[in-house]
Amino acid sequence: MTPGAPARATAEAAPAPRAGGDPLIRLFHVSKSYSAGTFALRDVSVEVKKGELVFLTGPSGAGKTTLMKLLFAAERPSEGQILVLGRNVARIGERGIPRLRRRVGVVFQDFKLIPTRTAEENVAVALEVIGKSPREVRGKSFAMLKRVGLQHRRHHRPAALSGGEQQRVALARALVNDPAILLADEPTGNLDAALTLEIMDLIAAAAARGTTVLVASHDAALVKRYARRVLRLEGGQLVEDLSGSAIR
Ligand SMILES: Nc1ncnc2c1ncn2[C@@H]1O[C@H](COP(=O)(O)OP(=O)(O)OP(=O)(O)O)[C@@H](O)[C@H]1O
Ligand SMILES: [Mg+2]
Repeated sequence: MTPGAPARATAEAAPAPRAGGDPLIRLFHVSKSYSAGTFALRDVSVEVKKGELVFLTGPSGAGKTTLMKLLFAAERPSEGQILVLGRNVARIGERGIPRLRRRVGVVFQDFKLIPTRTAEENVAVALEVIGKSPREVRGKSFAMLKRVGLQHRRHHRPAALSGGEQQRVALARALVNDPAILLADEPTGNLDAALTLEIMDLIAAAAARGTTVLVASHDAALVKRYARRVLRLEGGQLVEDLSGSAIR
């Protein structure tokens, strides 16, 4: 990293949130405490615009997964406001959650594939739950599996797929709705170097098509190769926000 370049994110620098504004993601003084007296996130303010490819880095326990969970309402902030696609997800109701998740694709290590379903059926789930016609479900699932290079594996169940193939199915499932936002938490965690690049190329391609992408990763080489912007968390605080040449 270039010395002198890091801009420290300060609470004062963050403008007040505005619904429907340009940034797709906006956090305003967000804190998250799972238990009294400890903070997984502490006073985080940041904005992410359409089509950005942002890496979230920082040591284990820094709050990366927590930040992502807040963005698709899997957790609620203890304090602050979060706007995702113009909605205040801190206050989103039960009915708003499925509507939000239709537009936010998620790849988490613990978001497992359904073992009794084939690769194609696992991708299809994401379309079935939003009421697409069987014909559209079939067409889009197949096209998406093809895009991740797995059309020849479409009738295999997860147990008959390699780790990298399973990860590609999970990514296909996250992208099949053409989400506005993709959240990927350590998407290449268990993969070898070649598969890691394959998955990251697919993720970068989604960003190039206009999807706003957040990737949590410990992998410095990956960050260097793919990141356009890096947010670094430490102890729940946003300590660095680097873009462009400052990353390299
Ligand atoms: N459900 C939970 N209940 C209580 N504490 C939690 C919970 N989830 C996370 N934490 C705590 O919050 C802090 C941030 O955790 P988080 O999972 O966000 O870190 P992370 O940056 O994703 O770490 P890693 O790189 O290991 O995945 C940690 O101290 C963790 O122990
Ligand atoms: Mg994590």
